[in-house]
This record gives sequence, structure tokens and C-alpha cells, in this order.
Amino acid sequence: MSVLSFSLVCVDCGTSHPGLAVRYRCGCGGTLDVVHDAAALTGKVGFDQFDRRLASKEPADRSGVWRFRELVLPLAPEELVTKPEGNTNLYRSGPLAAWVGIDDLAWKHEGENPTGSFKDRGMTVGITVAKKLGMDRVACASTGNTSASMASYAANAGMKAYVFIPEGKVAFGKLSQALAYEATTIQIAGDFDVAMRLVQEACAARGVYLLNSINPFRIEGQKSIAFELLQDLHWNVPDWVVIPGGNLGNSAAIGKGLMELLNLGLISRLPKLAVIQAAGANPFAAAFKAGRPVVPLASAETRATAIRIGDPISWRKSLRGVQASGGTVDEVTDQEILDAKAKLDASGIGAEPASCAAVAGARKLAAAGVIGRGEQVVGILTGHLLKDPEIVVDYHRGTLAGIASNFANALRRSEPHLKAVLAAMGD
Ligand code: F0G
Repeated sequence: MSVLSFSLVCVDCGTSHPGLAVRYRCGCGGTLDVVHDAAALTGKVGFDQFDRRLASKEPADRSGVWRFRELVLPLAPEELVTKPEGNTNLYRSGPLAAWVGIDDLAWKHEGENPTGSFKDRGMTVGITVAKKLGMDRVACASTGNTSASMASYAANAGMKAYVFIPEGKVAFGKLSQALAYEATTIQIAGDFDVAMRLVQEACAARGVYLLNSINPFRIEGQKSIAFELLQDLHWNVPDWVVIPGGNLGNSAAIGKGLMELLNLGLISRLPKLAVIQAAGANPFAAAFKAGRPVVPLASAETRATAIRIGDPISWRKSLRGVQASGGTVDEVTDQEILDAKAKLDASGIGAEPASCAAVAGARKLAAAGVIGRGEQVVGILTGHLLKDPEIVVDYHRGTLAGIASNFANALRRSEPHLKAVLAAMGD
């Protein structure tokens, strides 16, 4: 199991580099894929083996990432830094499905990961590799969730964490996590894209290990969302998977995982991937519509701060899965995101705003007839509702400038006596 049979291959020029190395880009500037030895895996991994591990008490089997370790990274169980992550639930809601306009609609809630977002799946692999490489300092730029996850896993592994965040644009749930887990947290007077550039420069200057999703090992962990959601569906392939998109690491990872299962003959077709961006941070949706490469936005703006990104690093990788599956890329307005959030929250499922781009996107694609009402659809909810409590309160108070609180649950006040309380109850 500890024989490392993988390499890092450039997405642009195809050059192959040694597998276990501190490297994020090819000499040509292209990003890198972890490429596994498919010949060594074919016939040696199977769904029944992954199902058997569900009954195990071993941390490596209990993790919704490392349960699939042959497909993720072939490391020995004792090498792993795991909490364990994954094992997130699939939720359904009749009223929400009716509002979205899709009958068979399930939501995989990645907000149920240990630090409240899907990032933990990539981070367990990123930190495990950092440890194996002997790195004791790690860093990332983040809109909040990556930094919360990295800070926590770094603390577990006894590493020093540096977090670069866009000043004033990180939701409090996430900012408080980075501080609480003792990361050195630096607010950059600029947006995420500036922070992303600076963290790469700082890591190169100081020999700190970079743990953004440009790190190819992060993607390997992230792709377990696809494995686990198929396992949740008894290994049946849905018609669509709908994913919110920012820096595009997650959709790239889900596409990679699914294409690998197809290549190994473990599934016979791909679900179509729909990547949904916020309209104010839509470089990938605009490029897809125009059939051209991504042109970075000078500035991105959305209240879904997690996906407030104008220059997504992984767009080429994400496009591969979208194209191979016959999927699509679309965008939704902040009004659509926040209305969808109110509906998702009111269903009792709940998620942070960026996740709700997937809800709004599914509804838009259903209305346009791109997704058929009778198709089987799984949406990915990427972060917990409590990551961004301020926007919930502001929405229901009706104090978000430029946003109509169409589904407000107004906060009520009462004088301290029964008659007033009953009136406030609406009785
Ligand atoms: N949803 C949430 C809650 C996120 O935090 C992010 C990204 C995304 C969706 C988009 O995923 O970037 O892989 O396309 N958050 C990153 C961060 C950028 O720093 O936490 P993506």
C-alpha cells in the first residue's frame, strides 16, 4: 500500500513529474494533475470493498476520503492526518423540490464536514502530504472555508499555518475559525485574487507549503465527494450533479473522480456536471457561453463571499469534466441566490450563500428545460448555514441593500406579558 504509483502531469503540455514532490506547476506554467497507475488499479478496486469499509472502526476506513484511498492516494493508514472527514448526508425536501421544479432532487451536505465545509476532504490529503514531505509550515489564500479547514488540520498535525484573506470580505464564522485554530491570519488590502497571487509568492520566498486547490493533492481528496455520493445512491449514477463554482477546484475534482471511475470501468456513464457561478463573479460562465478561454474579471462582486473570485485557477480542469459529461456552466444573481437560500433554509436543510448558488442554478436550469423535471439530480451544498450568520439575519430583517427579502421570516418583538406574546405568535 505504501508503494507510490502516481505522477504529477501537466494539464497543458502533458509533461510528467515525480509524484511526491513540492510542486504546484509545470515548468511551462500549467497546473498539475495527480495521475494514478490505472493499470495497477484495474480489477483491484471495487465498490464492494468500499462498502465493507463502512462497517469498520479503523480511522482510515471511517473517513469518507480515505475509505477510497486506492483512488485518492496510496498511503498507509498510519501516515494519515484525518479527523475523519466526509460521511455527509443526502437530504431531500418535497417543498424545495417543488420550488426548484425537479422531482428527484437530493442535496449532499458537505457543510457536515468537521470544520463545516467541503474543504476538509481536500485538506486531509493536503496536510497528510505536507507531513510526508517534511513541511512544517503551510499557507493558503482563502475566502474563508479553506483557511478554516487548513488552520484546523495544521493545528492537529502540529504545523504552523498562514492564512491570507481579502480584507472585510470573509464571513465571521470562517474568520473566527482561522483565529481560533491559531493560524497567523493576514487580511490583505485587496480581493481574493490579489491574496492568491501573494500567497504563491510568499510560499516560494519562504519555503512554505501552499495548500490552495492549485495543490494537486487537495483535488485528490476533494474528488471523494463524487465517490461518496455514488455510494449514497447504491452506486447508481444520477443524471446531473450541480456544483457551485468559485476557484473551480471542487468541480474540477468531482469531474476528475467521475472520469477516473469511468476509465476503470466501475461506472458506465458520467452524470452531467452543472457548475453555477454568481453573476458578479462569473468568468467561467461567461467563457463557457462564449466558447472561449476564461478572461479574468478586474473585480468580482457577490454577497456569496465564498465564491467572490474573478480569476479562477482551476478553470481548465473544471472544463474537462463539464465537457466530457455534456454538462453546462451557468450563473445566478445574488437575488436568486438569496431567495434560494431562504427556501433551502426554510426546508430545514440550510447552507451558506455560495452553496445556494447550486439551488438557484438547478431551478434556473429546470425552468429553461436544460434539466428535465423527471431527471435524477444531486446538488452539492458546500458549507454550513452558520458559516455566515450575518447574512441570514440581514436578509430576514430586510436590510440587505439592493436585495428584496422575498421570503423574509421577520423577527418579532413583544412586550413582556401574555396578551402581547399571543399577538406576536399570531394567535
Ligand atoms: N462553496 C463554498 C462554501 C466555498 O467556500 C467555495 C470556495 C466554493 C463553494 C467554490 O469552490 O472554489 O472549488 O470552485 N471557497 C474557497 C475558499 C475559495 O477559500 O474557501 P471552488
